[in-house]
Amino acid sequence: MRQKLVAGNWKMNGSKASIKALLDGIKQGIGDVQSAEVAVCPPFVYLGEVESQLQGTPIVWGAQNLSTEEKGAFTGEIAASMINDFGCKYVIVGHSERRSLYGEDDALVAKKYRVARAAGLRPILCIGETLEEREKEVTNEVVARQIAAVIDLEGVAALADGVIAYEPVWAIGTGKTASPEQAQEVHKFIREQIAASDAEVARKVQILYGGSMNAGNAVELLAQEDIDGGLIGGASLKAEDFLTICRAAG
Ligand code: 13P
Repeated sequence: MRQKLVAGNWKMNGSKASIKALLDGIKQGIGDVQSAEVAVCPPFVYLGEVESQLQGTPIVWGAQNLSTEEKGAFTGEIAASMINDFGCKYVIVGHSERRSLYGEDDALVAKKYRVARAAGLRPILCIGETLEEREKEVTNEVVARQIAAVIDLEGVAALADGVIAYEPVWAIGTGKTASPEQAQEVHKFIREQIAASDAEVARKVQILYGGSMNAGNAVELLAQEDIDGGLIGGASLKAEDFLTICRAAG
């Protein structure tokens, strides 16, 4: 049985005050989450705040991005070692917003996966098709290509050191969720794709769903055989909604 993981991607939201209130709320309710792992991914500047507030709780945390460089003259970038320094377990790589707004391609995302893994962080590799790609019926090709970039660089075993998040771009922040059947179909395909290289890795790897997952639709999505949790945007900014999703994960 794969453990479920619910991770909140706060994106570029929050303030010291709002984050304190959000974490207080999550901490208060976390006792009702039975078996799922719960993570939050704040903006970089709040990692210290999050670390001090979550230390000693069952909640873990991660960053939303990282540099491929180790250190040096890279103004505005954040290194894997710095993310480690703040006690992060996870780091998101290749989120569709990084891909579409900041030009990150499969090769760069694979490199980020490598750097995160080398630093002992667990990368959450985001993949998913745009609306145009879904309409052209090339969803499987797109996600296969995005995963292959990591397998080609690092080998299939590397996938066991991270998590995959299937996030159809058309479902992100739109309120338009993939139906449980639509999501399950792609998750199953992703697992089969990995199984073609290594059945054991495919059996173990957690595949999260992301894209307008909320307190109302989480139960049905999380009931699907190949959905091992969620990467939550908007609904992770409200403690009660986020906790409802965490409880739905078990
Ligand atoms: P929403 O839950 O706001 O659609 O965002 C999903 C997402 O992009 C998580 O990484």
